[in-house]
Amino acid sequence: MVNKTQLTDRDKKLKDILNRIWQLKESPLYKYRTENHYYPVIGEGSHEARIMFIGEAPGENEARTGRPFCGAAGRLLDQLLESINLQRADVYISNIVKDRPPNNRDPSPEEIELYSPFLDEQINIIQPKIIATLGRFSMQYVLEKFNLPESGQTISKLHGRVLKTKTVYGKIMVFPLYHPAAALYTGSLKETLMKDMQKLTNVLSE
Ligand code: URA
Repeated sequence: MVNKTQLTDRDKKLKDILNRIWQLKESPLYKYRTENHYYPVIGEGSHEARIMFIGEAPGENEARTGRPFCGAAGRLLDQLLESINLQRADVYISNIVKDRPPNNRDPSPEEIELYSPFLDEQINIIQPKIIATLGRFSMQYVLEKFNLPESGQTISKLHGRVLKTKTVYGKIMVFPLYHPAAALYTGSLKETLMKDMQKLTNVLSE
């Protein structure tokens, strides 16, 4: 039993990542963050999670609160989790880029390059058995990171498929999903996301 008042090794390592991101002055997003009194968003949830969800970058709500997926897309993510009897506290939710890009634009290749080593560290600390990517940016990043042969294929082809791979800490499954924000704009994608989430229950019982 871990005494809840005591930080675990994982807690300490994740806190250290947050501290380093606070000081990431070389980031092109640092000035925008400080000028707007925004928070960096590293992630939240169980540090022992079996499933890790990875989105793109914080939006305004997230940057104002320091919490991932807390706007409209986050509410849909909560619904998706509930549909398979999971809560946020059961999983870990993070992003590739940890600071908000202005006007919610797509993260740039430079930003992905600068922030992704922090995500890599988070993956190795939490050691999830399933990495569920949300949207094409995190999907492409994770496919390339693990040298998966599917790298370069479109999300319309790969969503809802289980891709097996190996990490430094053992075998895992990568599970690409559409980004919940995309489903807010295109109603039919919500149904697709719901169906894909159901497939996750089979993966979880493996
Ligand atoms: N979209 C993302 O990709 N991440 C968030 O945290 C919020 C919205």
